[in-house]
Amino acid sequence: MDKIVIEGNKPLSGSVEVSGAKNAVLPIMTAALIPVGKSKIYRVPELKDTRTMIRLLEIIGAKVSLNENTIEIDSTTVNNPEAPYDLVKTMRASFYVLGPLMARFGRVKVSLPGGCAWGPRPVDFHLKGLEKLGAKLTLKDGYILAEADQLKGNEIRFEFPSVGATGNLAMAAVTAKGTTILHNAAREPEIVQLCEFLNKMGARISGIGTTTIIIDGVNDLHAADIEVISDRIEAGTFLIAGALLGKITVNRVELKHLDAVLGKLKEAGCKIIVGNASVTVTPPDKLKPVDITTAVYPGFPTDLQAQWVALMSLAAGSSMITDTVYHDRFSHIPELSRLGANIRVDKNTAFVRGVDSLAGAPVMSTDIRASASLIIAGLAASGKTQVSRVYHIDRGYEHIEEKFRVLGAQISRETE
Ligand code: EPZ
Repeated sequence: MDKIVIEGNKPLSGSVEVSGAKNAVLPIMTAALIPVGKSKIYRVPELKDTRTMIRLLEIIGAKVSLNENTIEIDSTTVNNPEAPYDLVKTMRASFYVLGPLMARFGRVKVSLPGGCAWGPRPVDFHLKGLEKLGAKLTLKDGYILAEADQLKGNEIRFEFPSVGATGNLAMAAVTAKGTTILHNAAREPEIVQLCEFLNKMGARISGIGTTTIIIDGVNDLHAADIEVISDRIEAGTFLIAGALLGKITVNRVELKHLDAVLGKLKEAGCKIIVGNASVTVTPPDKLKPVDITTAVYPGFPTDLQAQWVALMSLAAGSSMITDTVYHDRFSHIPELSRLGANIRVDKNTAFVRGVDSLAGAPVMSTDIRASASLIIAGLAASGKTQVSRVYHIDRGYEHIEEKFRVLGAQISRETE
């Protein structure tokens, strides 16, 4: 297993380019299963998760070719609508094949994802929604078997604007008979791009980007091409690192997707200069403590919560970080404490008392974003920090240590 080794407390400067968005490309890859034909996806980030998704599409029968950051998916030969436990347990996003395979075949066998590092992450909204479209579901050996001669449009109201459930049911409903209305739907940019891709393939979706998405079923879709949007979470991660470590420019970003994090960085005293598809952050002399409460888009993303905790651990004062999307997403806290951070967690809030400095130590990753927060803290800490289990970070960040090295970080990867 690899570990990342950091000699910290070095100022960073320069510019970095963000990659295509993981959370946009994964559902887009599954959507390419719906039509019969060859779809091309550009600006695909080179991640462990995209490789896992390629393996899943191949198991289902698609022919997939990857050339640098371009994927071609030929769904002509798809014949096995099944997502095995071995893959689903390594990547929850595998569950995104449920909708497309129902839209294409009217039947699918998908392993239930199970829990993750920070607790239960049910998929009940996905399943209830599919039943509302007329599918018959059975649970057997940890697998969901879903069947329907013909899905029928219906009104679905989500208890919570789930990203995954909105995406899965939008994909299931594109070939359903009649109209489906998704109420309290997700507005995340990644779901907006998924719906735009479905429309490019001939779907009829309106209300994209609002809380009410309307899908008028069509007989079938055709293949299409798309370029993936920028990864706003990767961009936010580098901007938060800059707020601690030096003047950094992040290029090839979608500015409007960064409003929430840029607003908070300004509150913390950072100077923010926006250019055409770029943002430059300059750290303040003294970082102000700033509370955040995560929320669904366009609120402050939960996927930047851990990185914000790392930042606030060195602020001049105390702050509160509340996660309303995942109430128990704090597995990074004990590891940050090993570096000398002073943080207490109560229910879904972390109370951070800023310290003057952090000191390097061996720490362990537990998930993608927790690993990013440990790398940021390690870059700020004096001495050596070793982050183990970095396969987590490889799931969500393309060449992260190379990108930080370009900014002047002393960071390397070693095999344990
Ligand atoms: C997506 O996960 C992202 N993953 C997550 O990013 C992100 O944290 C999350 O959205 C929230 O923004 C991908 O896009 C692949 P949800 P998803 O369904 O779709 C509850 C990362 O680091 N819920 O919006 O699984 C759920 O438990 C990952 O890149 C139900 O109760 O998230 C959670 O509390 C981590 N029942 C809330 O809703 C359901 O059926 C939001 O989950 C579905 C969700």
